[in-house]
Amino acid sequence: MKKILVTGGAGFIGSHVVRLFVTKYPEYKVVNLDKLTYAGNLANLKDIENRPNYEFVKGDIVDGDFILKLFEQEQFDGVIHLAAESHVDRSISNPTEFVFTNVIGTVNLLNAAKHIWKDKPEGKRFYHISTDEVYGSLGNKGMFTEETGYDPHSPYSASKASSDHFVRAYHDTFGLLSVVSNCSNNYGSFQFPEKLIPLFINNIRNNKPLPVYGKGENIRDWLWVEDHARAIDVIFHRGKTGETYNIGGHNEWTNINLIRLMCKIMDRKLNRPDGESEKLITYVKDRAGHDLRYAIDSTKLQHELGWVPSLQFEEGLEKTIDWYLANEEWLQNVTSGDYQKYYEQQYVKR
Ligand code: NAD
Ligand code: TYD
Repeated sequence: MKKILVTGGAGFIGSHVVRLFVTKYPEYKVVNLDKLTYAGNLANLKDIENRPNYEFVKGDIVDGDFILKLFEQEQFDGVIHLAAESHVDRSISNPTEFVFTNVIGTVNLLNAAKHIWKDKPEGKRFYHISTDEVYGSLGNKGMFTEETGYDPHSPYSASKASSDHFVRAYHDTFGLLSVVSNCSNNYGSFQFPEKLIPLFINNIRNNKPLPVYGKGENIRDWLWVEDHARAIDVIFHRGKTGETYNIGGHNEWTNINLIRLMCKIMDRKLNRPDGESEKLITYVKDRAGHDLRYAIDSTKLQHELGWVPSLQFEEGLEKTIDWYLANEEWLQNVTSGDYQKYYEQQYVKR
């Protein structure tokens, strides 16, 4: 029996990882540690919350004493670390929070793992989930590989880059059995509607303006979240210690083309005349330090561990739109309260 800690398991990607591990590995005990910030929601895990091999612990990774006690009590065999402040726009308005959670929180987890595994490191694993944004911004050509140098531009990516460096430093200095992966933009169910795809689905449905930053020419590489969770499963079990794996969809879209596609699909699903939702597109001031293009080369993961994305983007996007249209109550719950305040600060005052 293995006991695995998943941090940030009530968030978007974390909830998919927890669901996959709890259902696929009934012999594992999966402990989900989450602070339940605005982005964490236990409703994301309703379908598996009563499984005997699942436990939720509410807590803050920034609290080093609490983390150390939890590790001493639970004696985890593995850690899959996803807890983070994850939204670039929020990192521009409040960078310090990102240093606390993403940097100090990660170091607290590393210290605790190092402490409990020092005498018996065999079979243990600290898996740190990171982003392609640490590599910076690409021009029209090329892709990020595992060898690309770090060049973060936003406070979010700078904090994630810092945490990646700490994980590698603990591997090199203390022999901590760690692995890192850097993934491209995820989309799918249970994503908080402050990120592009769920925000725009929600706005199209409610006939609200679609705030496109700059000219909409920035390019992102989109991966279905369940394919990311599958990659995490593969890397956690078979990835080589001390290595980095890039995860991506080979699926680049300019924001404006992606938004037009979403409008088209939603016109059809909402029985609107073709072209109706596109009228909601509103160009707004560009994001500060806005990276032009991300593109991930995931050859290493594909060749060494045999992972490939399972879904074509158009199919995944349709599935995602269907999910948000069918789960209005979930959207209403997560967008009540503080969300309105955030939305006004982010968009209305522009
Ligand atoms: P998310 O914001 O949806 O979820 C983050 C979770 O972490 C939430 O449940 C939140 O409550 C929890 N959390 C935040 N601060 C915490 C703290 N101090 N202590 C304990 N829990 C805390 O984020 P996500 O999109 O699911 O991203 C998960 C991870 O994957 C992050 O590390 C992110 O950097 C990385 N990542 C995300 C993407 C993406 O496209 N979303 C792409 C690549 C990598
Ligand atoms: P986002 O989902 O915030 O992910 P990231 O910044 O981590 O890539 O944004 C995806 C792209 O969409 C990015 O280029 C910024 C752009 N964007 C908008 O144009 N308008 C918006 O309201 C948001 C949230 C994002």
